[in-house]
Amino acid sequence: MAPIRKAVIPAAGFGTRFLPATKSQPKEMLAVVDKPLIQYAVEEAVQSGVESIAVITSRGKSSMEDHFDRSPELEQFLEEKGKLDFLEEVKGISNLAEFCWIRQKEAHGLGHAILMSESYVGHDSFAVLLPDDIFDCPSPCIGQLLDTFSELKSSVIVLGRVDEEGMKKYGIVKPKKISERVFQVEDMIEKPGPEKAFSDLGILGRYVFTPDIFDAIKKTSPDKKGEIQITDAIKLLLEKQPVYGYLFEGKRYDAGDKQGFIEATIELALKRPEFSQKLSEFLKSL
Ligand code: UTP
Repeated sequence: MAPIRKAVIPAAGFGTRFLPATKSQPKEMLAVVDKPLIQYAVEEAVQSGVESIAVITSRGKSSMEDHFDRSPELEQFLEEKGKLDFLEEVKGISNLAEFCWIRQKEAHGLGHAILMSESYVGHDSFAVLLPDDIFDCPSPCIGQLLDTFSELKSSVIVLGRVDEEGMKKYGIVKPKKISERVFQVEDMIEKPGPEKAFSDLGILGRYVFTPDIFDAIKKTSPDKKGEIQITDAIKLLLEKQPVYGYLFEGKRYDAGDKQGFIEATIELALKRPEFSQKLSEFLKSL
């Protein structure tokens, strides 16, 4: 089986949890330290061997396209001013991958957003990265899933241990343990709460799918809010073929949520040599 080279990044949502910041700018372009959320996801995919990325986008979000395009005026300005480090960085962003921009005309949910990439993906298996989840791992999180996919040759979703609050926020799986980090998914339930949860293993924002996911999405009925949930589609996929869960190694921030975004900003800044000392002194002084 050829290695996976394509990834899909759904980025067409309204980002309501982050209002008012997201009223006229994409949530995916909010910067954690000095990099927009979507760039963290793109870099993670590229470090894992992805070469081509389809971003699912929507009206008012063209700043994402500009961010990954060339910027000749800025490049010329940086060159003239001798700011060569920035020049390299700015040029590097536009060379990260080949990009394809696909519109989701109405935000009918994550499953629907992924379905928009069907003709781009074709018959290949592919990775999906939700840009509001930042993973800080010893090796890229989506790469950990891709390695598992190449062994098991079936869809793999990322799992993380969640607390009772998390059981109200995420899909929860019924796992059958295969090895230390790999589980076969026997069933799943969306946001069950602690009473109905099968386990403490929650589904987070990284997936590797076979192209069969598209048929499953097409057969998935919208939920009460009219949204097609990817969890419901994965549940249908389970009836046709095995789906595995991988308990990732590392740390994850829910940066689509204000609290998670602030935590990511502080912790990732503390890891940067230019900020760590002054920032920790500042935090201690509070
Ligand atoms: P989220 O549910 O976290 O994003 O979806 P959201 O809907 O933008 O945010 P809230 O819940 O209103 O605050 C995860 C990812 O899926 C994309 C979002 O842009 C986000 O990156 N998404 C979601 C779509 O592309 N289309 C949709 O219809 C829904």
